[in-house]
Order: sequence, then structure tokens, then C-alpha cells
Amino acid sequence: MSQVPIEGQRLPAIVILDFGSQYSELIARRVRETEVFSVVLGYSTSVEELRKLSPKGIILSGGPSSVYADGAPLCDPQIWSMGIPVLGVCYGMQLMVQQLGGRVVAATGKAEYGKAPLEVDDPTDLLTNVDNGSTMWMSHGDSVEALPEGFVRLAHTANTPEAAVAHHQRQLYGVQFHPEVVHSTCGMAMIRNFVYHICGCEPDWTTATFIEEAVTQIREQVGEKRVLLALSGGVDSSTLAFLLKKAIGDQLTCMFIDQGFMRKGEPEFLMDFFDRKFNIHVEYIKARQRFLTKLKDVTDPEQKRKIIGTEFIRVFEEESRRLGPFDYLAQGTLYPDVIESAGTNVDPKTGERVAVKIKSHHNVGGLPKDLQFKLVEPLRKLFKDEVRKVGRSLGLPEEIVRRHPFPGPGLAIRILGEVTAEKLDCLRDADLIVREEVKEAGLYHDIWQAFAVLLPVRSVGVMGDKRTYAWPIVLRCVSSEDGMTADWSRLPYDLMETISNRIVNEVNGVNRVVLDITSKPPGTIEWE
Ligand code: XMP
Repeated sequence: MSQVPIEGQRLPAIVILDFGSQYSELIARRVRETEVFSVVLGYSTSVEELRKLSPKGIILSGGPSSVYADGAPLCDPQIWSMGIPVLGVCYGMQLMVQQLGGRVVAATGKAEYGKAPLEVDDPTDLLTNVDNGSTMWMSHGDSVEALPEGFVRLAHTANTPEAAVAHHQRQLYGVQFHPEVVHSTCGMAMIRNFVYHICGCEPDWTTATFIEEAVTQIREQVGEKRVLLALSGGVDSSTLAFLLKKAIGDQLTCMFIDQGFMRKGEPEFLMDFFDRKFNIHVEYIKARQRFLTKLKDVTDPEQKRKIIGTEFIRVFEEESRRLGPFDYLAQGTLYPDVIESAGTNVDPKTGERVAVKIKSHHNVGGLPKDLQFKLVEPLRKLFKDEVRKVGRSLGLPEEIVRRHPFPGPGLAIRILGEVTAEKLDCLRDADLIVREEVKEAGLYHDIWQAFAVLLPVRSVGVMGDKRTYAWPIVLRCVSSEDGMTADWSRLPYDLMETISNRIVNEVNGVNRVVLDITSKPPGTIEWE
């Protein structure tokens, strides 16, 4: 698997074995919030592989299966006797109990979903500082009916007698609830107890140590060679540019391909910011007309994305030849991409590892695998929130660190139907008003994305004494955790009124503003 340790790389203090829970990554993030480095591996990782990593503790995630079902995912049974503390969460706990001789039974009408107050029976080690009666998030059908020999109960809830259990001597722990979710009020206290007091981890996974280690590794990897980075202005590639500049200085060449689908003022901001303020030279590649010409008469969303993706690669190849030669290409691959491509999620029926988050279309605008470069991917250990911290600490302004996600094909997939220069100008103006007003209302950071979409139909309106016949703009604002699901934002009426008035008054070619009130699913966030 791709996460097996690489020579000279930091080893994880805590390994999370993934049994297919939607929360496995969240457990890793919570552990990292305690400044302890953790990684997610597939549930079937062998004891030999684990020993190579020499973690101080192992956490077994939840999962959608029942431990007694055919094909239920099982871990290497020698895990229990490795002499390393293990914490089983939900399915992980049930597996521990079952494999060590206890009994797990199906729901008998007492399944528990949602918040439940935890009654602490034994406030030592795992549950130190976990308040009696504190809320824990439950989500389980099966329950532990009988504990294996040597185990004791640490806590119960009204419906779950064995809500937290332990074998103190062997340092094996299980919790039926999810300490990692935000609704579990003392969840972080419990995670801290496990990583610090039970496993003896040191809080040494900090932004400063990450930057220090990354700089050393980048220097070792690339030596005197030249590195190329395609800058998009997003937080990942911007952080990468800062990190590489720090590590290798002028051996880095940044390239910004302006395909013409950026938001108003962004290409100028990007060039000014990197080149002039931070002395990170960026090669500006003017390609607007090229992309527009390719998109002439194209209306199908998939075709548009493909054309933009292919043209991007073409421009990239031409320009990298012109500016090169380069040995290395820097990419802003993040840890969730690494986990997903390793396919550590588990199909509950077959027990096979599967990638559940399929975002292939989002790779449009990315680069093909067969380019003749070696890759530098210093962010591949980080979650997005960690990238933000690193970026901030390297001096990136909040404007970049906390900006909303923006799709690779840009405004071209927010103009339905054919993309023209006129429509792009119109959408850019409307989009700027949306952003300005949402920021002015102090809501920018409460919203996942706030943007405008232009529809290629026209309706009648009246302005002054004149009839108008013009395009409508759709206001699309959503809240989301990760872009996989989303809900439409309930914006204040006054804000919507201001946005609508400004767009209709200030944007040429628009005479109507409508609101998208569709969640995802069934809608997507973008319109194409
Ligand atoms: P959808 O529209 O699928 O979008 O609900 C989910 C999230 O992904 C972003 N998105 C993209 N990001 N390249 C990207 O880098 C793309 O081609 C792309 N398409 C959609 C979208 O903005 C939202 O945050």
C-alpha cells in the first residue's frame, strides 16, 4: 500500500485501521488535533506491517458491517497481543469483544442513534475528565452482550449497558459511541487520554515541525534540480509554492495558466501577490483566447469539461517545454487523495476495499499520469485544515487560506450552454457582487461556497421606462462539511435583496436574480 513508511519519513504514533466508517478520516484528524501524527490504513494491514511502523497505539474505526455477518471485515487477530494499546470504536469495539471470546448481538429494538448521556462507572485512564452525564454520539444496531474474560465496564447509557469497556492490564479499550464527532462533548478528552496517557505519545506533530521536516525532505529529494509548479491560486498550490520557495528558492518555477475562467481580479491579484509581494516568480501564461475558441458552439457540460482539461494539458506541456527542462513537477496532493486512492474503504458485503468517494470528474483540469516528470508532493500527509495552518504559518494571507473552493474549469461550468466573452464578463461582475455582499454581511466563513450562475435563457423585465430582455443570474450558496453533501444556505432576506438589487442594477445583460434552494443530493453544488 502507498502508505507503507518511506525511508526517512515520519512514522505514525497512532494507526487507525479503517473498517469502512464514514468517520475514519475524522478520527485521524482528531488525533492530529492533539499534535500526534496518525495515519489511516486498511483494516487488513498485517501485524508485520504494523510492527514496521512501530506505532504507540492503534484505533479500530467503526464500520457498516455486523461482526457476525459473512464476509465481515476482520483485522489480524494477533493485534490484541502485540503489546500496543488498542481502542476499538463502535464496530472496532464489537470486533475486539467478539474475537476475544465475548458476545455481540443484533439490535433487539434497542438500537441507539443520536445523542445519549454517558454514565461513567470507572473514571480511571480512558475516561479521566470525561464528565458523568456528558453527551456521546451513538450510531449502532448491534450491541455487546457479554464481555470477554478480564474486561470491565467503564461506562453505560440508558440503552447500552457496555458503552465503554476495558481490559486494563492488556490496555485494550472499546467504546460503543463515536468520540470523534463534534456532538460527543467529551470526545476529545477521551482521545487525549488514549493518546497521551495510555499510549504515551508526545505532542510533536505541529505546523513548525511539519515545515521543518518537509523542507529537509524536499531538499533531499530534488537536490540541485529544477521544479515546476502549476499555480491555480487555491490554498493547496499556494501553500505548496511558499513551502517550495522556502526549501529550494529559485530552483522553483511557478506557472499560472490564465484560461480566462477565473473570477474578477484574481489573475491580477495572483500575479501581484506572488511575484511582487513575495518575490516568488510566476510565469503568466496568457491563454484566454485559446480556451474560448475551443469552446465555441460547445454546450454539453461533459464535453466542456473535457475540452478544458485537454487544452490545459496541451498548454502545460508546451509551456513546460519552453520554460524547461524540469526534472520535477510539484503537486498539491493531499492526504484524503492518498487514502482514497489506496481504497481503504470496505464494501460491507464482500469485505473488499473500495473507494467510496468517487470524484473522478473533478480531476478534469489535473495533469495526466504519464508526464515525464518525477513528482514532489510534500502535502500528501496533510488534511485540508492542516494545509491551511501550514499556509498561514508560511505567510499566506487569510484571503487565500480561507477562500471558498473554486472548480478547476472555473466560470466556464457556471455559464450554462455556450461560453462567450460577453457572458464571462457578465458572470464575473455578478459573482463579485455576491462575494462582496456575503463578506460584508460577515457570512463568508459560515458558507462553504457562494457564487453566481448564468443561465442562457432570457426573460422580460422593465428598467426605467424600457422593457428589457436579458439573462437571469442564479444565486447559489451552500453549507457543507466536505462538498460531498450540501444544503442551501438560508441567507437573510436583506442580504438577498441587496445582492439582487445590485446585480440587476450594475450588471449589464442581467434583469433577474433567482435563488437555488436545492440540497446535494439530489442537486450538485455546481450547475454543470
Ligand atoms: P459538485 O458540483 O459535484 O461539486 O457538487 C462538489 C465540489 O467540488 C467542486 N468541483 C470541482 N473542483 N475541479 C475542482 O477542482 C472540478 O472540475 C470541480 N467540479 C466541481 C465544487 O466547486 C464543489 O466544491
